[in-house]
Amino acid sequence: MSARKKTLLKVIVLGDLGVGKTSLMQQFVNKKFSHQYKATIGADFLTKDLTIDNKTVSLQIWDTAGQERFQSLGVAFYRGADCCVLCYDVTNEKSLNNLSSWKDEFLVQSNVSNPQDFPFIIIGNKIDVDESKKIPSLQKKLLNITNNQLGGLNYPLFETSAKDSINVETAFENVARMALQQE
Ligand code: GTP
Ligand code: MG
Repeated sequence: MSARKKTLLKVIVLGDLGVGKTSLMQQFVNKKFSHQYKATIGADFLTKDLTIDNKTVSLQIWDTAGQERFQSLGVAFYRGADCCVLCYDVTNEKSLNNLSSWKDEFLVQSNVSNPQDFPFIIIGNKIDVDESKKIPSLQKKLLNITNNQLGGLNYPLFETSAKDSINVETAFENVARMALQQE
């Protein structure tokens, strides 16, 4: 078979500090998890090849810093993004409420031509934790968020655990599928 050029898909992962962005990527790409929290500084990417609908794609996933003082991303960083993953922590209500600002930040910085139908995907991480710690009536809250602050648009939501590797693969496969449509 001839070596066809693989489709490179650029994905940007955003969300508050500590929601598990780095952990999700590490679990997806390297099948690793660490309990230790080490804040991401600046941005870095990991690459993973996937087969989506018989097509091999190379997913270039950009990890970013949730902590403002560690953010140093220029406009160029966002350029050419094919999908944006908005992450929150299911035990942290503030991280859920902040999704809309992360989305706005992305749209301002990336200046995509199709803000109305740009593929965003929401990941609620840490579902392995005790039920009592989770944000109450999550679905209701989320509806609120999607109806209002996320601009009246509905986005696919995946609940994951980077720790126990629950739904992580499914979430990123969908990221790839959506990115492929955008590309
Ligand atoms: P910044 O780089 O500062 O933006 O944070 P981050 O979003 O990359 O979070 P990170 O992946 O570093 O995870 C923060 C903490 O949450 C770490 O102590 C992780 O071990 C923990 N963590 C991440 N994912 C999970 C999960 O699915 N379940 C549980 N229980 N803990 C998790
Ligand atoms: Mg990180």
